[in-house]
Amino acid sequence: MQAHPGHSIGVFDSGVGGLTVVRALMERLPFENIVYFGDTARVPYGIKSVETISHYTTQIAEFLLAKQVKLLIIACNTMAAVASQTVKDLSPVPVLDVIDAGALGAIAVTAKKHIGVIGTPTTINSNAYARAIHDYEPEVRIFSQACPLFVPLVEEGWLDHQVTRLTAQEYLRPVLAHDIDTLVLGCTHYPLLKPLLQDVAGPGIRLVDSAEAMAEQAAALLAENGMANRQRGAADYHYYVTDVPLRFQTIGERFLGRTLANVHVVKW
Ligand code: DGL
Repeated sequence: MQAHPGHSIGVFDSGVGGLTVVRALMERLPFENIVYFGDTARVPYGIKSVETISHYTTQIAEFLLAKQVKLLIIACNTMAAVASQTVKDLSPVPVLDVIDAGALGAIAVTAKKHIGVIGTPTTINSNAYARAIHDYEPEVRIFSQACPLFVPLVEEGWLDHQVTRLTAQEYLRPVLAHDIDTLVLGCTHYPLLKPLLQDVAGPGIRLVDSAEAMAEQAAALLAENGMANRQRGAADYHYYVTDVPLRFQTIGERFLGRTLANVHVVKW
């Protein structure tokens, strides 16, 4: 079936974190319907192998394509890092991913051409951000750091907690030593730590939020292709999860900054 401007945008993530991207999309594109998939039964992905993540990602993309979405957005940095091409190969509709959006966002703001990137171990080990940034701007130097403790700290709600601050100081120290002026928040969960990370990094460093960068890219793509929703009514939001919908809803409301309804459980 042909994609239609009234169809939904499909957004997916390993769990609740991709709601930071949904939030940015809701703010930037308030008339767009969104179908979200969070794989809450199998999260976290950030410590899993490339093969496993590619397999899960394919399943999720096929699920959303069956819902006739007009655009697929890979909100999960870890999935984008290792399985973006897999999704592009199977999708008849355009595919955007947070890594490409974050890379472009970082290049746009760096003056010193020294960029720090933080993310899950799988994202950092994949070198995907460095590759994406160098594709656009080979001269840039990139300093990466895996921050595996940030995901559980954010899900615990410790956004301004002493433990999180000490953890951030520890993780950022080696990156900050390289005189960076830009730090890419390369994980769905990190935008919630923005005030704390800005504090630890200092005022001279620009934080690049891939979620916001993604919303800009999605808006541009829909406009260019004449695919923006022409209906001006309240948008429809549906959330599909693979387990514990209540936890998704509770934590999700923190990520989304608003109440969250229409949560459906998918049993595979
Ligand atoms: N969504 C993942 C990411 O952006 C973080 C959570 C996970 O490890 O699954 O990398």
